[in-house]
Amino acid sequence: MLTSSIEFSKLESELSSWLDKISEAPSFAELDKIKTSLVGKSGAVTAAFKTLKDLPTEEKKNQGEKLNKIKDRIENAISSQTKKLEKHLISEKLKNETVDITLPVENERFGGLHLITQAVRTIRDYYLSRGFRVLDGPEIETDFFNFTALNTPEHHPARQSSDTFYIDGLNETLLRTQTSCVQIRAMINEGIPIRMVSIGKTYRNDKLDATHSPMFHQIEGLVVDKKPISIGHLKSELMKFISFFFEIKDVAIRFRPSFFPFTEPGMEFDCRYTKKDGKIIVTPNGDKWLEMGGAGMVHPNVFRNCGITEQAYGFAYGIGVDRLIMIKHGIQDIRNLFDTDSRWLRYYGL
Ligand code: DAH
Repeated sequence: MLTSSIEFSKLESELSSWLDKISEAPSFAELDKIKTSLVGKSGAVTAAFKTLKDLPTEEKKNQGEKLNKIKDRIENAISSQTKKLEKHLISEKLKNETVDITLPVENERFGGLHLITQAVRTIRDYYLSRGFRVLDGPEIETDFFNFTALNTPEHHPARQSSDTFYIDGLNETLLRTQTSCVQIRAMINEGIPIRMVSIGKTYRNDKLDATHSPMFHQIEGLVVDKKPISIGHLKSELMKFISFFFEIKDVAIRFRPSFFPFTEPGMEFDCRYTKKDGKIIVTPNGDKWLEMGGAGMVHPNVFRNCGITEQAYGFAYGIGVDRLIMIKHGIQDIRNLFDTDSRWLRYYGL
């Protein structure tokens, strides 16, 4: 009994130095060694537990409790030191694995701007520099903005679901089939005078082939004023844009009569071009005519539908952006623009 008491008081007096050692253990291996020497099979605390059985009952209970408390404190200290070491290990690892993103990278290519994005930005900047407003409209439109306000009769073929993606069962909400709806939004929201363009995505229920895509891009231009505006203004505007886009000094343009419900008169316009090594070259000296887009003078019904009651004059036009890009870069197949071939993207990406 005497020996045991001495053992216990020795344990108690050594406890704080053990706890210190544990909390200072610099590694898992070191911590493990201390653990074994205390609570391992032949550890000091384990040994003390073994002596309990020789004690009288009362003393056994007393010393047993004390011993358990000592063991608990040791185990708690070991577990908190384990956590500390783990944390330290992780932060060391993170420190060593840090990537310096400011270091120069060799032979590495970063993402580029798609030809369409490049064109949209260039066209937008061109119009902004000429004092036009560049407006956006929603790609999910209502029947009113896409058709009705644009003077499109109830039974016009374009309204049919074989041409239009309706997104409700009521044929009231749709993916816009043209950017012309932004004209309407502009006139209703801003009134006149107005000089605006809108460049964006449009959708039609077309099969994807070399010249058609169910999603494509359009430019819509609109100029309206209280002062007279003529087809001459329209022609000059189109010529300026075409010569800007194709980076040519002169351009020859012609109008052909055509029909759009929202224009009167309505027309399509062509540009002179020639072919060189199979590539289209837009040039005023060309011997052929290339179809470029639709245009016309704004129909009085459209003004009325937009709540414009005073005398107003205006022209509008629509041009396919994808087609412009294909002509400029000699791209034969519209699918190339959308099928994300990384070699193609690398070649044309800016
Ligand atoms: N929205 C027409 C289309 O998608 C293009 C168009 C034609 C726009 C004549 C116009 C216009 O503004 O006046 O085919």
